[in-house]
Amino acid sequence: MALIKARIRGIAKEFSCDAGQTLLDAAIAAGVNPPFSCSAGACQMCKASVDSGEVSCIEEGSQTHQAGGGNVLTCQSIMKSDEISISFLNS
Ligand code: FES
Repeated sequence: MALIKARIRGIAKEFSCDAGQTLLDAAIAAGVNPPFSCSAGACQMCKASVDSGEVSCIEEGSQTHQAGGGNVLTCQSIMKSDEISISFLNS
């Protein structure tokens, strides 16, 4: 189990993330009310900056989790590091 430190609407939150679980699903499961809409990589509502640590795409070898500018779509991203810091940008 890994740790996500996230800023959502300016408030710092910490929650765990299971292996293979998307960052967005971990945030939803933790009840921290992240911004999202489609959960399918289309709306960009779940976009976040990765302030430390590494993430990768849920589809191995794909880059569809990239949202430009070094940001990621949390609904399409899984953790690669044991701990990451992210900031949701649409909150
Ligand atoms: S929730 Fe729509 S792109 Fe992630």
